[in-house]
Amino acid sequence: MDWPVLLEAAEAAARATTGRGRVADYIPALATADPEAFGMAVATVEGELHGVGDWQRPFSVQSVSKLFSLALAVAYGGDTLWQGVGREPSGNPFNSLVQLETEHGIPRNPFINAGALVVTDRLHTMTGDASGAVREFLRRESGNPLLDTDPVVAASEAEHGHRNAALAHFIASHGNLENPVETVLEHYYAHCAVATSCRDLVLAGSFLARYGVRADGTRLMSRSETKRINAVLLTCGTYDAAGEFAFRVGLPGKSGVGGGILAILPGRAAVCAWGPRLDQAGNSVAAVAALDTLTTLSGCSVF
Ligand code: DON
Repeated sequence: MDWPVLLEAAEAAARATTGRGRVADYIPALATADPEAFGMAVATVEGELHGVGDWQRPFSVQSVSKLFSLALAVAYGGDTLWQGVGREPSGNPFNSLVQLETEHGIPRNPFINAGALVVTDRLHTMTGDASGAVREFLRRESGNPLLDTDPVVAASEAEHGHRNAALAHFIASHGNLENPVETVLEHYYAHCAVATSCRDLVLAGSFLARYGVRADGTRLMSRSETKRINAVLLTCGTYDAAGEFAFRVGLPGKSGVGGGILAILPGRAAVCAWGPRLDQAGNSVAAVAALDTLTTLSGCSVF
């Protein structure tokens, strides 16, 4: 696979989206992102690392962190997690409240905000420090000891977090949180507000391409658990656009409103693309275009 050539073509496709989509501003600290920034990186299971554009420039990880909180909650707690959160696509926006009411406070999946709050809660019970566990995992796998929560973004999320607070309180009213709402929200914001890069994320996400094996060769989770996480990424990782993402890109992937998308080629590589302009569903316009081009040109997808 000629990764540098593929990345160049993907970057050209991303640059052609200039002007389409909007930078997230419902968290005011995210609105300062450079709309035309673009980066992309690939880490292969053989240990190759390639990047183009702003692939080493930090951006806000946002919901891409939900992949890591889920993986750690599954790795430490096993199947019990699924008693409190489902694994069906929601067909609704990532911060929607509507399904929770009729579905008894059990969120549809771990990637919508409601589900991620439950995952953060369980991870906090297991580790005593949910956001610290996510940061530590990201640091170890990426080999970047400086990776950290951006306190300005975390504070901005908390200050404008009425929807997430409403979700958390509603879930708690159904008895589906084990920790106080304030603790869960604090740790959820802290892991969403981590500043990271395409480089860091492909290295940190590679365990999913290696069927559960970490960078140091130890096993985080079983092959079957890895398959399940990749399956939930494919069906739910890009929210109510998961069908469109599967159609265009054909890979399990997780997006965030910082503009990053981390996608997995099982058995081969982790790929991350980043561009801050988002479509209606909250997925990066440039990153989807880049990933679409990469899989279309290479013929590599899970299909
Ligand atoms: O809670 C929020 O709204 C953000 N911290 C994360 C949302 C997000 O990234 C959705 N992804 N596209």
